Formats: sequence, structure tokens, C-alpha cells
Amino acid sequence: MSRFPEYASILERLKLNEDDILLYLGCCFGQDLRKLVFDGAPLEKLYGAELRPEFIELSYELFHDAEKIKPRLVVGDIFDIPNTGLASLAGRVDILYASAFIHLFDWDGQVACCVGIVNMLKPKKGSIVFGRQAGRSKAIRTRNLRNHDDNRMIYM
Ligand SMILES: C[S@@+](CC[C@H](N)C(=O)[O-])C[C@H]1O[C@@H](n2cnc3c(N)ncnc32)[C@H](O)[C@@H]1O
Repeated sequence: MSRFPEYASILERLKLNEDDILLYLGCCFGQDLRKLVFDGAPLEKLYGAELRPEFIELSYELFHDAEKIKPRLVVGDIFDIPNTGLASLAGRVDILYASAFIHLFDWDGQVACCVGIVNMLKPKKGSIVFGRQAGRSKAIRTRNLRNHDDNRMIYM
């Protein structure tokens, strides 16, 4: 996240705007959330959401910060907002970060994912969605497999 040109202004916004909330969707181990805290973002304005609870649990083991960060990380599914940890954040988010995330899904899934993302945002001007996704200039249906022999990605 910190490699984005917008990172400094997002950090500033979190430091200055009392009400702003950032959600890191599909946060896996949530390392970028910890980096934001390290760089001075107020912890209480940050949330991470991850589908797989074991990734969140393992992140406490890796960073030794369960006590501090546990309330900031929720188990959530962007396709099932009302029934997961995302419910309490729906419609409250000002800045949403989703990286290596939207491209996980096929076209219909990507559209549904983006609808979910919009539903997470505050219904007002000035919200930001940022992140990086992989794609192709010519759309095709793909399946990525890792070739363990030479560690290349194979596109089928
Ligand atoms: C490829 S990883 C990217 C992790 C991280 N964003 C990064 O850039 O390093 C995608 C993450 O999204 C999570 N994920 C997949 N489907 C999800 C869903 N429906 N809702 C929330 N998280 C999901 C996965 O469990 C995984 O941790």
C-alpha cells in the first residue's frame, strides 16, 4: 500500500479527519494495516477484513500484537456482508483498499464484488477505493495454476 503515490495523502487524511475510516478488504495477514499504524495512522480508524479466520489468527502469531490489533480485524465475506463481520462497517467506510483481490473472481463475481465495495462506503462524495489488480487488455476467462517445476504462472 505504501508504494502508491496516494499513500502520503491517505495517511494525512486519516491523521486529520476525525471521522474517516479505512477498510482493508481481503487483508490476509494485514501487514499493510500494521504499516499504516507504524506510519502514524490512528489505530481506531483502521479495519481489516478477511474471509479466512486462520489468516487473521496466524497474523497475531507473526506480529505478536493480538491484544492491540484484534478489535481491528474482522472475519468478513464481501459477498455476504450482512451475515459476517463486515455488517457493522457497511456504509461507514471512507477509504477502501483492495489489492490482488477483485481479480480473484470471474466477471460476474467482480461485478458483485464491486457492488459489495460500494455498499461498504459512506453514501457521500469523497470516498476513495484503491488497490492493484491483475488483468489483460483483451478479456478472456482464465484459470491460474502455479507450475511448481519452474515457478511460472500458467494462464489457461
Ligand atoms: C491474493 S490474497 C491478497 C492479499 C493482500 N490483499 C495482498 O495484496 O497481499 C486475497 C485475499 O482475499 C481473501 N478473500 C478471498 N475471498 C474473499 C471474500 N469473499 N471476502 C473477503 N476476503 C476474501 C483471501 O482469503 C486472501 O487472503
